[in-house]
Amino acid sequence: MESTALDHWLSDLNLPTWRYYEEVGSTNDIALAWLDRDAPDSALVVAGHQTHGRGRLGRTWISVPEAGLAFTLIVRPNAQSPFPVERLTALGALAVTQAFKAGFGVDAHIKWPNDVLIAGRKVCGILVELAWQEEQLQGAVVGIGINVGRAAVPPAEGLHYPATSLEEALGHPINRWEVLRRVLEAFLAWRSRLTDPEFMAAWEQHLAFRGEWVQASDGLNPPLVGRVEGLSPEGHLRLRLEDGSEYRLSAGEIRPLPAPFAESSGGEDA
Ligand code: BTN
Repeated sequence: MESTALDHWLSDLNLPTWRYYEEVGSTNDIALAWLDRDAPDSALVVAGHQTHGRGRLGRTWISVPEAGLAFTLIVRPNAQSPFPVERLTALGALAVTQAFKAGFGVDAHIKWPNDVLIAGRKVCGILVELAWQEEQLQGAVVGIGINVGRAAVPPAEGLHYPATSLEEALGHPINRWEVLRRVLEAFLAWRSRLTDPEFMAAWEQHLAFRGEWVQASDGLNPPLVGRVEGLSPEGHLRLRLEDGSEYRLSAGEIRPLPAPFAESSGGEDA
């Protein structure tokens, strides 16, 4: 039933192949197993519902039937399309932000490195996982979870970051397969252009908290406080620290700082 509906939404896209599962543990697991066999570049795994969705840093991704969208795209090195692994998370996040704008007129921003926010609240998370065979990188999977309906937003207690849904931003219900289609369109359009300067420019343009103060943690060292300036050519987050020096965050996560901190830190010219 759902797979017939999906046919309607996906059939004229340039997707090589896709598989739909009513219920799976994690679409990333299915995609990794498929990648290990014979999945082509840009093959898609979609789930009606996930029972063991994974997030970054060992977190759980809660997936609500009907209201959430959970899918994974397989990315393989090939002769036609470059394969810069460090840009794959941004590929997913940029595809989602552009899909929201083009399809639904909703502004969204990328909270470096892997979340998409609407009005400062998380609406989507991306989990990229790599597949190695001995020393050889076989490919990667780009798992994307989107809160489409209001019911997809987990209860506030226990949430790592404030969350929202696309329908909450829109104020009316939408078809989650249309959201999927829009994201895939943007994903496929960027897939072969990952090394173009336009890709970095579009990513940087959609960065959340530009010019704002954030707390940044790399998971190893004590958190730092800095103002978000943009991206380095490698896709690291460029921060201006309180002492005026530049710091480049290569891994970890950021959180916006509450307004009183920003005010006491010297405003625009600090
Ligand atoms: C995060 O916010 O930390 C990333 C969440 C990624 C969730 C998606 S849902 C589809 C794919 N399958 C998973 O198990 N995880 C990703």
